[in-house]
Amino acid sequence: MNAIDIINKTKLSIPLSHEEIVWLVEGYTNGEIPDHQMSAWLMAVRLNGITDEETLALTYAMRDSGGIMQLDIPYTVDKHSTGGVGDKTSLIIGPIVAACGVCMSKMSGRGLGHTGGTIDKLESIPGLRTDLSVEEFTEILHKNGFAIMSQSGEICPADKKIYALRNATGTVDSIPLICASIMSKKLATNADCLLLDVKYGTGAFMKTKEEAEKLAAIMERIGRSAGKQCRAVVTDMNEPLGCNVGNSLEVREALEVLRGETRGELYNVCIMLASELLALAGKGTVSECAELAAEAISSGKALEVMREMIKLQGGNPDVCDDLSLLPMPKFRYTIKAVCDMEITGFNCEEIGQTALMLGAGRTSLNGRIDATAGIIMQCRIGESLCAGDPIMTLCSTVCSDFSEAAIRALNAVSYIRHTQPKNDK
Ligand code: URA
Repeated sequence: MNAIDIINKTKLSIPLSHEEIVWLVEGYTNGEIPDHQMSAWLMAVRLNGITDEETLALTYAMRDSGGIMQLDIPYTVDKHSTGGVGDKTSLIIGPIVAACGVCMSKMSGRGLGHTGGTIDKLESIPGLRTDLSVEEFTEILHKNGFAIMSQSGEICPADKKIYALRNATGTVDSIPLICASIMSKKLATNADCLLLDVKYGTGAFMKTKEEAEKLAAIMERIGRSAGKQCRAVVTDMNEPLGCNVGNSLEVREALEVLRGETRGELYNVCIMLASELLALAGKGTVSECAELAAEAISSGKALEVMREMIKLQGGNPDVCDDLSLLPMPKFRYTIKAVCDMEITGFNCEEIGQTALMLGAGRTSLNGRIDATAGIIMQCRIGESLCAGDPIMTLCSTVCSDFSEAAIRALNAVSYIRHTQPKNDK
């Protein structure tokens, strides 16, 4: 076998055999196939697609690139999102379900394309480590019922490498590649029960609900055929989830929700997803589980789980009480309404790309990120603003000249002018 033949086959939409896919994944993981050849193959997949059988073979080959976790814990659950802008739900749902007595073992990724990654968000907490060994991960789960680790050399190393390469080569938004990336990690961490949050809309990789439903169906099929209790829900990503986009800004907002200080869309989506996961894990009906989830927040138990997780993963748990201990941006710039207006929509991907420009994500294979960079959204779709009201605030430490980012962000906002001042209506 050779990589050029494999690239050519996918380029011509000729299905690869199971053996060819295993050879490609193994070869790339162990360094025999170079980045440029893997990039070419990924682009062929992105442009032409591959069959469901190839997607399944890719998922299993990536899962088998490392070990499969055998946690000596009777029952664990996991949740994964296909990626969005401002999507910090894992940082809220994990503590909620653990506070309800269900152990959540999660392996996450870094920022991908215009979307943020749970690992980058968590690593903005001073000292916190996500490069846990399986032993450390298991120990934390035993103590606290909630831990998050990154892909490693031990577990799913193929996804670690391919994920970073996709991010640097414009090959993220592909149903088979997203499916294999997520499901290989999920099957390798081997939780008994899986909830998949498949996003659609301007801020998601799947722009339409139909594409999201297609991805949801194939991931659910793979999960169930691997013997998991698996459910995929399709959720809207046409505006950033919550107010904050960017790593430490999102941790701050997640902590505000766990502290019971913030309600609204983010809180509602988290309660909905947590209740689906708890119900799948047999804790009651979805509505009973919604009550359990809300109680986990109002009692402060979910916040305690988060505090313990931060401590056990080496971070400073005091951030839970004092949000000013999180890294803060050095520079800020507020974009204001130029006239009285109603916000009619956002190009949410462009908001994510603006956050990347400010330093919140990587644009090259080994790029560094600015934990403080991001955007604070100050209005929602449907809201009326007066001239001079804030639309959003751009934040960064590595970038002090906001001119380019501000133009990009402003172009991401759709609005209609109010012909009469808002207050006269
Ligand atoms: N999350 C992942 O882990 N992988 C993807 O490809 C997209 C979202």
